[in-house]
Amino acid sequence: MRLKGRVATVTGSAQGMGEAIARAFIREGAAVIISDVNEEGAQRVADDIIRQGGRAYAIRIDVTKSEDAERLAQCAIDIFGGLDIHVNNAGISMTRLFVETERADLERILQVNLVGAFICAQAAVRRMLPRGFGRIINIASLSGQRGGVGRAAYGVSKAGLELLTKVMSVELAASGITINNIAPGAIATEMATQQHDQATRDAYHYLIPQRRYGRPEEIADAAVFLSSEEARHICGHTLNVDGGFQTAGLMFTFGSSKAPVPPAL
Ligand SMILES: NC(=O)c1ccc[n+]([C@@H]2O[C@H](COP(=O)([O-])OP(=O)(O)OC[C@H]3O[C@@H](n4cnc5c(N)ncnc54)[C@H](O)[C@@H]3O)[C@@H](O)[C@H]2O)c1
Repeated sequence: MRLKGRVATVTGSAQGMGEAIARAFIREGAAVIISDVNEEGAQRVADDIIRQGGRAYAIRIDVTKSEDAERLAQCAIDIFGGLDIHVNNAGISMTRLFVETERADLERILQVNLVGAFICAQAAVRRMLPRGFGRIINIASLSGQRGGVGRAAYGVSKAGLELLTKVMSVELAASGITINNIAPGAIATEMATQQHDQATRDAYHYLIPQRRYGRPEEIADAAVFLSSEEARHICGHTLNVDGGFQTAGLMFTFGSSKAPVPPAL
C-alpha cells in the first residue's frame, strides 16, 4: 500500500498502459480518476475497479483542450478531496517516413503528446503547489531518444516531453513536486499491436537484449515507484523500461563471429 491515501489522475487510462497504471495505483491504495477521450472505455475501467472495492471515477477528456485539462485536475479535488499524482500517459503514434509525413500528422501528434501533456501537467501543478507535494510522471518513449525509422513526428513529440520534464523539474524541485519520465521501449499494448508490422516486431526482438516486448504492468510498476515516498529525491529523471534496448551496443555470442539469431516470433 505504497500510495495509501493518495489521489491520482491518469490520462489515456481506458486501455493499455494507462489502464495498467491506474490499476496498479489502486492496488497500492490510491484513488484514481480514469480519463480518456474514449468515455465508454474509461467508464468500463472505473466500474470494474469499483466492483472490486477500489476508488475510481471516470471522466471524458481530450488532453488537447485546456478546459478539459482544468476539469480533470479539479475533478480529483471535487471527487476525492485532493490531487497528489498526475500521469501524462495519453498518446497517439504514427510510423511514417520523414519525407512522407504530412504537416497535419505532425501537428496532431505534437498536440496530443506534447501540448496535451504540457497543459494537463500545468493544471495539476497549480493545484499541487499550495499543498507542497506532488508527483508528475510523463510517459515518454525510446523513440524520443533514438532515431528510429518512421518516428520523425512521434519521436520529436516524446523528445520534447523529456525536455519539458527537465525544465519543470528544475523549476518545481524546491516546492515538493517531482517530475520524472518513464520511457517505455516496445510494450505489448493496443497501440503496438496496431502500429507494429512483422518487420517492426522482428527488428525489436533483434535489438532488445531481453528479446521480448514489455508488458503494461512493467510500466505500471515503475510508475508506482516514481509516485511513492521512496522516490522523493528523484527529479527530472528518465527511467527507461525497455528490456535493455537503449543500453545495448553490439550483440553477439562471445567467441563466435556470428550475430545471434533472433528467437522465433
Ligand atoms: N506501446 C508501446 O510500445 C509504447 C512505447 C513507448 C511509449 N508509448 C507511449 O505510452 C503511452 C500509452 O501507450 P499505449 O500503448 O498504452 O497506447 P493505447 O493506444 O493502447 O492507449 C492510449 C490511450 O490514450 C487515449 N487518448 C488518445 N488521444 C487522447 C486524447 N487526445 N485525450 C485523451 N485520451 C487520449 C486513447 O483513447 C487510449 O485509450 C502513449 O503516450 C505512448 O506514446 C507506448
